[in-house]
Amino acid sequence: TSTKMTENAKPLVFNIIAECQTTKARTSKMILPHGEVDTPVFMPVGTQGTLKGMLPEQLEEMGLQIMLANTYHLGTRPGPKILEKAGGLHKFMNWNRNLLTDSGGFQMVSLLELAEITEEGVKFQSLNKTKGEVMLTPEHSIEIQNAIGADIIMQLDDVVQTTVPDKERIALSVESTNMHCRTTRWLDRALKVHKNPNTQNIFPIVQGTLHEDLRRISAKDLTQRVVNGYAIGGLSGGESKDEFWKIVHLCTDLLPKDKPRYLMGVGFAIDLVVCSALGVDMFDCVFPTRTARFGCALTMTGQLNLRKARFAKDFQPIDEDCTCNTCKRYTRAFLHGIVTELPVACHLLTEHNLAFQLRLMKSIRDSVCEQQFPAFVQKFVFDLYPDKN
Ligand code: GUN
Ligand code: ZN
Repeated sequence: TSTKMTENAKPLVFNIIAECQTTKARTSKMILPHGEVDTPVFMPVGTQGTLKGMLPEQLEEMGLQIMLANTYHLGTRPGPKILEKAGGLHKFMNWNRNLLTDSGGFQMVSLLELAEITEEGVKFQSLNKTKGEVMLTPEHSIEIQNAIGADIIMQLDDVVQTTVPDKERIALSVESTNMHCRTTRWLDRALKVHKNPNTQNIFPIVQGTLHEDLRRISAKDLTQRVVNGYAIGGLSGGESKDEFWKIVHLCTDLLPKDKPRYLMGVGFAIDLVVCSALGVDMFDCVFPTRTARFGCALTMTGQLNLRKARFAKDFQPIDEDCTCNTCKRYTRAFLHGIVTELPVACHLLTEHNLAFQLRLMKSIRDSVCEQQFPAFVQKFVFDLYPDKN
């Protein structure tokens, strides 16, 4: 089923199929080296080359077209040499569809909080305790991502959390002799060493926190580099929805219409709907799969924490309208009973939450195609917040 690219074919084709007449939403068939991706798309996150609780063949069966893998973890174990020997991560993990790798620095900064960012790169304590301090540079990140071989790879970026309003720090990330952000300088360093431009698409990342002027500078600089798509970063850090959506709106206005736009680290249902309306095409987040492991199931009317006592005698499926294996075969009462017994509960809830995300994105795409997107949004918001209407 995979549509493998020949050597000199384009590594990314972005075919817009329909555009909403009222909002900035659009739907496309994007073609990547490991097959088609229908957008707007939600991409779940796997860590060590697996998505916890699911086999790659189960993900394929569910219709997943693209998933994320983590550069830093894979760079440590099995490491770039073994990945290269294995013929890349797709082969190594038995996943013949598309992969995207993030550049690694963001995870370190947000996980460890020990990272120090300098012009050279991101310095942090190695997870591999024997190694001490490690410097992840824009060049090294690309070297690891070239070995992994994902279809979309990300530049190393300089992320300043929106909730840390440290003006000096923000200034440092954007200051320069030539008016370019550090993230732009790091992009140019990454582009210089990228070995596989015909099979791996590198995406720059717009930064600039909640400052509109900084976002404008960043987007203007990055869009002067010729690439096949752009990301919007620095926005999953706990700022208010108003501020968050306003910056997304600005960024999608600044980015080219004919290339995919990827909003990083966003995966709540309401944000997927609103940001699709703002013209975002790709999303990723650990939330749906992580929350599954805490016993939480996603539905169109909100989240169910299956550990709550009220589910002990509730013999309905999680969601009557869901066609996933979990909802076809198991009740809330059963899931309540097993929810702390990890592997099987983890699998059943992860499958449901992924099915939920996939179904939501398909509804968005279908409604854009049928010129029904505004009506879809209205119903979605009503179902989720019935009291507020
Ligand atoms: N994941 C969520 N937000 C970001 C970001 O700003 N940069 C990177 N590299 N990854 C992210
Ligand atoms: Zn289900």
